Order: sequence, then C-alpha cells, then structure tokens
Amino acid sequence: MNGVMRIDAILSRFGYCSRREAAAWVKRGRVTVPGKTLRSAADKAEPAEVLIDGKPVEFVNGLYVALHKPLGCTCSHKEEGELVYDLLPPQWLNRSNGVSTVGRLDKETSGLLLLTDDGAFVHALTSPKKHVPKVYEFETSVPIPESAVAAFASGDFMLEGETTPCLPAELQILSPRHGQLTLHEGRYHQVRRMLAAVGAPVVNLSRIAIGSLRLETLNLAPGEWVEIDPSLFS
Ligand code: URA
Repeated sequence: MNGVMRIDAILSRFGYCSRREAAAWVKRGRVTVPGKTLRSAADKAEPAEVLIDGKPVEFVNGLYVALHKPLGCTCSHKEEGELVYDLLPPQWLNRSNGVSTVGRLDKETSGLLLLTDDGAFVHALTSPKKHVPKVYEFETSVPIPESAVAAFASGDFMLEGETTPCLPAELQILSPRHGQLTLHEGRYHQVRRMLAAVGAPVVNLSRIAIGSLRLETLNLAPGEWVEIDPSLFS
C-alpha cells in the first residue's frame, strides 16, 4: 500500500526510469490511469491504478520471488564473475528499495533462494529467533556416519572456531553418501562444515525447501524465478 504519489516518483520508485526521464514517458503516452489522460509527470495517482505501456506497475506491494539458483553464481552485488542478480530483469535492480537475497547460498550450492525488496521480510526470515527451517539435500564423498544423526540433533554440536553450539538439526541418511539436513539457523557454510566435522565432506549441495515452500513444487529450471506470496512465511 503506497498511497497517492507523483507519476515521476512512481516511475523511479518501481525502477522504470529516473525522475528526470519520467516527463518523456508521460509525453509519449506510455503512462495512463483508467479514465484519465495524464498530462504531466507531476500528476498524482495510486501506484496500483497506474498502467505503463498498458500493464500494471510490477510488484506494486513489494517484490517477493523464488529463484532456482544455479551452480556457479554468487549471492553478491559486487563480486567478480556471475552474480544471481544477473539472472533478474534489470528493472528490478533499479527499484528504490534495492532487491537483495534472503540469506545466501554459496557459489557452489544450487537450489531455492528468495529475493525481495522488503527489508522486514529479510529480517523475519533470517533472524535466528524465527527458526524458519531450511532443508538441504547433499552428497558426500564417503559414507555418512550414523552417529551424526544424534550428534546434529543434540543441541551441543560445536563447529570449529565458534562459541555457541548449533541449534538441533535433523539429519536423514537416505543412502550411504546421500542425505538431507534440516537447519533452523544459517551459519557460514553450515552444511558443509557440519558434514566435514563428522568426516564426510559434501561434494554436492542443494537447498530444497524453506519453511513450507518446496523447490520441486515450483517447477523452476535452474536460473528461473517465480513470484511468491510472502504470507506463506507468516
Ligand atoms: N550450508 C552451506 O554449506 N552452504 C550453503 O550454501 C548453505 C548452507
């Protein structure tokens, strides 16, 4: 819900063009409101009523998408190499509330990644207090020891260099070198570090679910994204 705004403010807020360029967009008749011809970029309207090239303003109440992150791209705005943001329409990145990932996946991890321009949503999903479960599927280079199930569930499993134990995590061993791990927090390289600590280094890693949202139900090929309903997580 945005309230009435100037047309130039709407165009720049939602990433279409700069405030200065807005006058030309209006002049060319690209910006309309049902039943009213806009004459000036200083005219005011509700963003939800405005049509740009005949289409409603994109993500007028916030941008919430799920991306199937491919291997090899980085969750960063500024690092070298391929970035997850290169997979998105450039207009999203021009929105005045910058788009960011909700947490991160490593360059060599694939799977479900959420993106948004809503800082409160990022906080709600990444805050350690919320404990939104995240499910990872992985393969290891050697068999996973059975003892890891109890160790990870115990609530006193320590990672090297850390001062607090990991929250209880659920490990399912699906076959000797294939498993799923459900985490309720997100520490740096956590899945790889936990499995390495029990002697079973991870060679393939993918996130398959966040809360009740499962990647397989979204039918996304690597690199594809889809809009999601943020209330799924409330
Ligand atoms: N744990 C990891 O080791 N890597 C990720 O990308 C996510 C969780």
